[in-house]
Amino acid sequence: METMSRAPGKLMLLGEHAVVYGRKCIVTAVDAPVTVSLRSHEKFVINAPDLKISHEFTLSDPEYPKEVSFAATAVKMFNAKFALPSPVSITTKSLLSSERKVGLGSSASVTAAVMKALSNHFSIKLEKKELFDLCYKTILEVQKVGSGFDAAAAVFGGTLMYKKGQPMPIKSEGLDLTIGYTGMPAHTTEIVRKVAAQVDEQPGYYENIFDEIEKLVIMATKAIEEKDWASLGSLMNENQEFLREMQVPSEELGVSSEIIEKLINSALDAGAYGAKLSGAGVGDCIIAISPIERKNEVEEAIARAGGTIIDAKVNVPGAE
Ligand code: PMV
Repeated sequence: METMSRAPGKLMLLGEHAVVYGRKCIVTAVDAPVTVSLRSHEKFVINAPDLKISHEFTLSDPEYPKEVSFAATAVKMFNAKFALPSPVSITTKSLLSSERKVGLGSSASVTAAVMKALSNHFSIKLEKKELFDLCYKTILEVQKVGSGFDAAAAVFGGTLMYKKGQPMPIKSEGLDLTIGYTGMPAHTTEIVRKVAAQVDEQPGYYENIFDEIEKLVIMATKAIEEKDWASLGSLMNENQEFLREMQVPSEELGVSSEIIEKLINSALDAGAYGAKLSGAGVGDCIIAISPIERKNEVEEAIARAGGTIIDAKVNVPGAE
């Protein structure tokens, strides 16, 4: 018998970086899903046809190849908690082929889809919070750093206020964003480390920025619940200013960049309520929120400025 599962990708709405330092952020699940099919097998195998890899492994391997490390570690963590009755063969696929490059999909989607498939396959009932805890533990085991916001989006779906380890779903009906890819991948771990070095050097400066960002996050949560998109847009603009003020060595615009600023300005000039980078910064995507009647113009303006519009819904369901 084969068990299928899927988990969405994520987009940070507000609060990136600050969330690493214990502040709240807002994350939404994006329709950039990873699917998993899983069956019992005589050995542990992971097939990732997108990455042209098929890897046989054991639960005691000291490490796994990069391409399969999240899926294999997820199996290992699940086994440590529930003792698997048999080995499994897993096939993972990303439904949006460019997903990895644009930063919407995540290792967290793979992790959540594998965990969900394992729990269904072996009829082990898991509450969402338990599933999330297992996913976050897996992510930390593999990449050492990260707030876990991506695991929260992959497991819970929808839109969440999130503080490290604590997902809090919010009422977010009607949320619609324009997503523009900068053409440059973001190197999340590297940027997070650079920011950490700066925080060590100037803790007062950064703690203040993070506190201010958290205030915006709290106001933005209310704006989302009230469908007050104009206020959400101006809070996004304010968050972007703080991201620009984060001083990172070798970057002149904080964790922003020239191309990010260009895409943001084109969206605002075309009538968006607000626009900002999403995620670690320097590359990956910008997000914009606009009045419905302006959405096409905003998309065209971002494309003219050199961005690629990513046609993916936000606020979609979590792992299922
Ligand atoms: O680059 P992304 O989309 O993976 O987002 C990273 C967000 C950070 O807050 C910078 C890091 C984190 O783990 O929360």
